[in-house]
Amino acid sequence: MTPEDFAFIDAAGIDTETAYRLIVGCVVPRPVAWITTVDALGRINAAPFSSYNYVATSPPMLAINIASRAGAVKDTARNIRATGEFVVNVATEATMEAMHQTAQDYPPEVSETELLGIALLPSQCVRAPRIASTPVQMECRLDQVVVLGRGVNTLFIGEVVAFHLAHEVYDGKRVDSARMRPIARLGGPFYAGLGEIFHRPMLQRPPGGEGSVHQNNHNPPETTP
Ligand SMILES: Cc1cc2nc3c(=O)[nH]c(=O)nc-3n(C[C@H](O)[C@H](O)[C@H](O)COP(=O)(O)O)c2cc1C
Repeated sequence: MTPEDFAFIDAAGIDTETAYRLIVGCVVPRPVAWITTVDALGRINAAPFSSYNYVATSPPMLAINIASRAGAVKDTARNIRATGEFVVNVATEATMEAMHQTAQDYPPEVSETELLGIALLPSQCVRAPRIASTPVQMECRLDQVVVLGRGVNTLFIGEVVAFHLAHEVYDGKRVDSARMRPIARLGGPFYAGLGEIFHRPMLQRPPGGEGSVHQNNHNPPETTP
């Protein structure tokens, strides 16, 4: 491509709405953390967040960016600050409709899970419950809160203190993405499934040293998919 094939947008001083539209279009696909929390009175809240990823492995840590809504703090952000705990449930194709419904702006006293009849399971280490219909749930304790930029966004970094992995997606060693059927968020009102999965041998040892290495022909390539 040549320079004429590109639109140039100077992001210095860009307004929040334009920045949001561009960044959620550029950073795709995004996994969806369907987060359950409880408030100080024990009321259960559920909402999806796709500005989310894992950020550390020792110990395992996740980060979620929660924006303010018309200047007000979202229930999930308030509950995480109040309790220091949350659960990330991995949203899947099968749970997409229910997950999407929980993104509505309900008042703090309304429990999305109660209103929408979402079945829950108790957690082991945190007070927030797990969403029973999701095959992967991660119990998290808050590690750090980082207010970003002009203060619209806050990054919540949590340590995963427990994994709950359904037998249908976990063989005792690995989580099978194809079986999990996670849903991804794209720009605008769009979601996507996994699509085609490509296999390539790993070229470096993953953190912790386990796995295959195929580098400079010193090590044989992985033979199993
Ligand atoms: C798929 C999806 C992803 C979302 N990702 C985010 C996000 O990363 N950060 C955010 O602040 N809001 C995000 N939202 C919007 C929140 O889910 C929405 O504001 C919700 O009402 C918050 O609920 P709460 O007030 O109960 O916490 C997303 C919505 C959807 C449908």
